[in-house]
Amino acid sequence: MIKVCRRSTFNSAHRLFRPDWSDEKNNAVFDKCNNPNYHGHNYTLEVWVSGEVDPETGYLIDLKILKTIIQKEIIDRFDHRNLNLDCPEFEQLNPTAENIAAVIYRLMREAMDKKYELSITLWETENNIVYFDGK
Ligand code: NI
Repeated sequence: MIKVCRRSTFNSAHRLFRPDWSDEKNNAVFDKCNNPNYHGHNYTLEVWVSGEVDPETGYLIDLKILKTIIQKEIIDRFDHRNLNLDCPEFEQLNPTAENIAAVIYRLMREAMDKKYELSITLWETENNIVYFDGK
């Protein structure tokens, strides 16, 4: 089994809160991330693909094709957007890094051939990183 990765970046605004909670509870749990006027992150996304190398091409997957799928499914959808306000994926879902990674995984999973295994690493900051492989 071999793995390849395509790295991409996007930036988005978000606010972490639950509309069904009081301001006090949202502030206690989400603190500054609950700022009503939103805040932004420069996200770094790694999409890891594993499978078998095609003996004819020597490729696991043509990274140009992977790049095009990520661009269409993820970057065009989330880059320079307010995740809470602009993106239906987060209308009912708090846009934490965990939930963003899970949404990205689902979108990529639907767009890619089932012969590949996928995992997602999402860097919300230099130090805060989420990994999701669908399990
Ligand atoms: Ni944040």
